[in-house]
Amino acid sequence: MEKQIVVSGIRATGELHIGNYFGAMRNFVTLQDEFKCYFFIADWHSLTTEEDAEALKVHILPIVKDYLAVGLDPQKCTLFAQSSVPEIAELALLLSMVQPKTELEGLPTWKEKEASQKEAGKIVSAGLFFYPVLMAADILIQKATIIPVGKDQLPHLEFTRDVARRFNNRYGFTFPACDALEGRAIKVPGLDGTEKMGKTEGNAIDLVETPEGVAQKLSVAVTDTNRKLRQDPGNPYICNIFALHELLSTPEMVEQIKTDCQTAAIGCVECKKMLGNNINKFLAPLQERRQAISDDYARQILSDGGKKARITARQTLNEVRDKMGLPDLKGE
Ligand code: TYM
Repeated sequence: MEKQIVVSGIRATGELHIGNYFGAMRNFVTLQDEFKCYFFIADWHSLTTEEDAEALKVHILPIVKDYLAVGLDPQKCTLFAQSSVPEIAELALLLSMVQPKTELEGLPTWKEKEASQKEAGKIVSAGLFFYPVLMAADILIQKATIIPVGKDQLPHLEFTRDVARRFNNRYGFTFPACDALEGRAIKVPGLDGTEKMGKTEGNAIDLVETPEGVAQKLSVAVTDTNRKLRQDPGNPYICNIFALHELLSTPEMVEQIKTDCQTAAIGCVECKKMLGNNINKFLAPLQERRQAISDDYARQILSDGGKKARITARQTLNEVRDKMGLPDLKGE
C-alpha cells in the first residue's frame, strides 16, 4: 500500500516557541517514521503580515535548525522553503477559480487577521485575504491526507477540504480529503493568561530561551486570577501555568501539583519554579543540538528538500492543468 502523505508548515515570523513544538513539531517527529512527510517554512505566508525583508530573512535558517534540532531527519522527510516550489503558487491561482469569494470572507481566521492588521495600522493585503487558498495549495499539491497542526489551524483544513471537493466535483476526482491528526490538535495557552501562545503576542517561551529568560517570563506570567493570596486555594483548571505543567512535567508531578494547588499547599511562585526547571530540562538538549548546526548545512537541507518537493508538485500541477484545459507542460 502507498504511504499516506503528510504536509505541514510554519511561518517565519519570529522565533519558534513551545506552542509550535507541542502543537505541531512534536507530531512531525513521530510521523516521519511512518509516512511520506513534507515539512516546510511558509515564507510566502509570512509575507502576509511581515513587511521587513531582513526580519523574514533572519528567521528562515533558525527554523530549519529547529526542525533538525527537534529530531526531524532529512533522510526520512523533506524539509523545504515554500517559495522554492513555485508550483504551489500556480496551484493556488488555479484553485482560486473554483473557490467562491464569499466563503473566504466568512472564515473566522480571516476576520481575526484582518482585525489585528487594522489594529496595528498595517495594510490588509489581498495576499492576506488569499492566505487560505495558498495554504490549501500547500497541502493539495502533495495530495496530503494528514496535516499535523495546532487547533487554531483547523478552520483552514476545513476550507482545504471544501476547495478539494469543489475541484473534484467540477473536474473529476483529483484530491483526497485531508485532516488533522486525530485528537492531537491542541492549543497551548499563553503566559499572559490568553488562550493561545503566539510568536508575535509576547506571551511565549521560545525554543531558544535561556534559563534566565524562562525565569523572568514565568515570574510575570498570569495564573488563576481568583487566587489573590498565597493561602487561597487555586483552581488548576483555569490556570495556564498548570496547562503547561501538563505538557512539560511528569504525570506524577502534575497530579501532585493539582492537589497542592487546590489545597494551597504550594503557592504560584513555587509552582512556576518547578515548571521553569522542567522547561529548562526540555530546552537544554534541543538548544545544544541547534547550536551544532551550521548555516551552510541548514541552507543545503533547504535546497535539497526544495528540489525533491518540486518533483511531486510538478506531477500534481500537470494533472491539474490538464484537467482544467490548459496546455500540456509535461515535456518542460
Ligand atoms: P503558524 O506558523 O502560526 O504555526 C505553526 C504551527 O504551530 C501551531 N501552533 C500552535 N499549536 C498549539 N498551540 C499554540 N499556541 C500554537 N501556536 C502555533 C500551529 O497550529 C501550526 O501547526 N497557516 C500555518 C502555516 C501553514 C501550514 C500550511 C500549516 C501554511 N501552509 C499547510 C499546515 C499545512 C500557520 O500560520 O502556522
